[in-house]
Amino acid sequence: MDRGRPTRGLAEASDAGTRAAHTQGCGVAAVARRRHLPILLRGTGLVKTRVYVPCPLCHTPAMSSPAPPAGIAVRPATEADLPAIDAIFNREILEGVATWDVTPWTAAQRLAWFQAHQREGEAVFVADAAGEVAGFAHLSFYSPRFPYRHTRSDSVYIRPDFQRRGAGRLLVAAVLDEARRTGGHLVIAGIDSENAASLALHRALGFEVMGRLPEAGWKFEAWRTLVQMGIVLR
Ligand SMILES: CC(C)(COP(=O)(O)OP(=O)(O)OC[C@H]1O[C@@H](n2cnc3c(N)ncnc32)[C@H](O)[C@@H]1OP(=O)(O)O)[C@@H](O)C(=O)NCCC(=O)NCCS
Repeated sequence: MDRGRPTRGLAEASDAGTRAAHTQGCGVAAVARRRHLPILLRGTGLVKTRVYVPCPLCHTPAMSSPAPPAGIAVRPATEADLPAIDAIFNREILEGVATWDVTPWTAAQRLAWFQAHQREGEAVFVADAAGEVAGFAHLSFYSPRFPYRHTRSDSVYIRPDFQRRGAGRLLVAAVLDEARRTGGHLVIAGIDSENAASLALHRALGFEVMGRLPEAGWKFEAWRTLVQMGIVLR
């Protein structure tokens, strides 16, 4: 996928003087200085993709995490968040296909899961909306086997009344930042093929479809197909 190739004019202006002059007037630098906002928007047909790239000329770094939507902040989850996380996830178990689990998790299962995610390379984040848990996401090892230690998986769940307010994007961006920080290289999301929202969210953050497992699951008396989306971190 084309990740925001520099414009022809900028790529060609390579001498030091031009670079210095450019930095002064650089739109990327100006925005990064002023508001710390991610930079480039590109339309790719069905899905609007937001791409975070440093300026190709003066190399002003763009932030990989999007600016927080008003009133929502991402922070590491604590044990106090677990009942809210369970409420969000268990509702999806009973009513949705984002997860193929069919039995609600118990509080003990959730606590064990949370404690296991405290090791380096794994993480749980919540989107906090004025003290309420609007959603959560986790970064997990893809496999316990040693050669896969740089491969991680992510998952994200937003409370229905907080959806489409940027929390999902913010959480997955935080997960990707954490993966980068801890030596992650490939991050994979397993997504139900009919979950248009999650497919679009991951595509918007740079994930690509890397695999498809037809009729890999069974829920609500029907076969479910798994799409594996992934991003190689650079
Ligand atoms: C998928 C989910 C996490 C998205 O979270 P969200 O906070 O609603 O998404 P955001 O507001 O951050 O949207 C970010 C981008 O995702 C895409 N997107 C999100 N919801 C979408 C929808 N219903 N339809 C199409 N695209 C959607 C859009 O590209 C959007 O960018 P835009 O708002 O600039 O168009 C949320 O719908 C959810 O929790 N669904 C139920 C659980 C689930 O499916 N989890 C994923 C398991 S793999």
